Amino acid sequence: MTPGVPRLLDQIRSRRSRSGVVGLGYVGLPLAVELARAGFETIGIDVDERKVDAVNRGSSYIPDVSTEDLGSLVSRGTLRATTDFAAVAGLDTINICVPTPLRKTKDPDMSFVAAAVEGVAAHLHPGMLVVLESTTYPGTTEEFVKPRLEATGLRAGHDFFLAFSPERVDPGNPTFKTRNVAKVVGGIDAPSTSLAGSLYAAAIDHIVPVSSPRVAEMVKLLENTFRAVNIGLANEIALMCARLGIDVWEVVDAAATKPFGFMPFYPGPGLGGHCIPIDPFYLSWKAKQSGFDSRFIELAGQINGAMPHFVVQTIADALNETRKPVNGSDVLVLGIAYKRDIDDIRESPSLDVMTVLTQKGARVRYSDPYVPVLGAERWQGAVELHSEPLTAAVLRQADCVVILTDHRVIDYDLVRCSAPVVVDTRNAIQGRHPNVFRLGAPPPTDSGTRRRDEGSERAAPDAQAVA
Ligand SMILES: NC(=O)c1ccc[n+]([C@@H]2O[C@H](COP(=O)([O-])OP(=O)(O)OC[C@H]3O[C@@H](n4cnc5c(N)ncnc54)[C@H](O)[C@@H]3O)[C@@H](O)[C@H]2O)c1
Repeated sequence: MTPGVPRLLDQIRSRRSRSGVVGLGYVGLPLAVELARAGFETIGIDVDERKVDAVNRGSSYIPDVSTEDLGSLVSRGTLRATTDFAAVAGLDTINICVPTPLRKTKDPDMSFVAAAVEGVAAHLHPGMLVVLESTTYPGTTEEFVKPRLEATGLRAGHDFFLAFSPERVDPGNPTFKTRNVAKVVGGIDAPSTSLAGSLYAAAIDHIVPVSSPRVAEMVKLLENTFRAVNIGLANEIALMCARLGIDVWEVVDAAATKPFGFMPFYPGPGLGGHCIPIDPFYLSWKAKQSGFDSRFIELAGQINGAMPHFVVQTIADALNETRKPVNGSDVLVLGIAYKRDIDDIRESPSLDVMTVLTQKGARVRYSDPYVPVLGAERWQGAVELHSEPLTAAVLRQADCVVILTDHRVIDYDLVRCSAPVVVDTRNAIQGRHPNVFRLGAPPPTDSGTRRRDEGSERAAPDAQAVA
């Protein structure tokens, strides 16, 4: 057995080991809190001073972590944060949870992982366990992280332990949190897997060891590619249903009653967040290096990426029913977070819809109780916007209201009753209503007919024919 294994194992089991988490974002802060709650003295390291200060004040900036929980761990001295990687010298285990975005060319941007690993390497010492959690391509731990840590002269598997364990947190999910989502762990050798498994077992209910970091890296990419491809399928079916005059929401819900062999995925305005739109391209990039073309990933990317344009076309069709062009119309967007009940706008398709509408001359406003301000630098419209209060007057003032994120706190009856025209991309307003255009569903009953009847004699015969 590698020297140091029994010592670290004993320290972990007796909670005498000291833990570090690099990157205190949506993934890292909940993990640091769980480790501290499990009894480990924990230090979070982040380059963002505001986050470090907030943690040290006991004030949470991540909705899934309560200020009360964080505050009590900080005041007990179990958890603290720093910007200084020198803290690594006093740690026994370290988990790296920094971003893994894409470059504009859709290639992996590994600069955050490189910087974090180099920060750790500068203070790496014998007997340490290093675990990478950032979602990344298969091979990263062994081909990218290991050589950078070994450049210190210490050898992985001999002097320190190394593993990969994907984070599967689902922000805003009230049922599944860090503690009750099984943790997949793959070390570079058996001791690394066992040590990382023991560390997580202190804070997480169920551990799933796998044979290598490569397998663990691939597990996460399979999970997220599965979602991206199935959402792509749901979106294509929605486009098809719109063409065929069938309600896609009714179809998916009825299909979901099958007790086996079917899992419902729903259409929407496009993919968002730091995972589903990005992670599959880490896999296709890696596969391409072995001459393999990932056709499902590319196709799903094309379909999902085109959805914001389809939504804009639906808005144009809805406005057309009231004889209005997009250019000059007032469009109120409901929800700019990438999914319901959270505040994260990274890669949000709402921003794409708003950008295209602005380019076409619409006056775009938004209402999102979770995102009070949209900074000019966060979207291509490049002006700062503030969330509008959701009142009947604000809804009435818009030429079209478009539901892009179905936050539960929004009063959809108020929206339906007050807005002249609604485009609903989430089936938030169920059933058919004369002023509601739902994505992937037939247009409202007698729309077109009624509008043409209202003001044009020339249109009347046509309208009767349609009726
Ligand atoms: N957000 C999710 O739902 C989710 C779910 C599963 C996996 N992941 C993966 O987890 C990783 C982290 O995602 P996130 O959503 O927590 O990102 P995030 O942006 O919320 O947090 C990352 C943190 O890392 C910090 N950071 C950046 N560079 C650093 C460095 N060199 N040293 C120290 N800190 C640094 C940032 O300041 C930030 O606070 C990504 O690989 C992501 O794909 C995210």
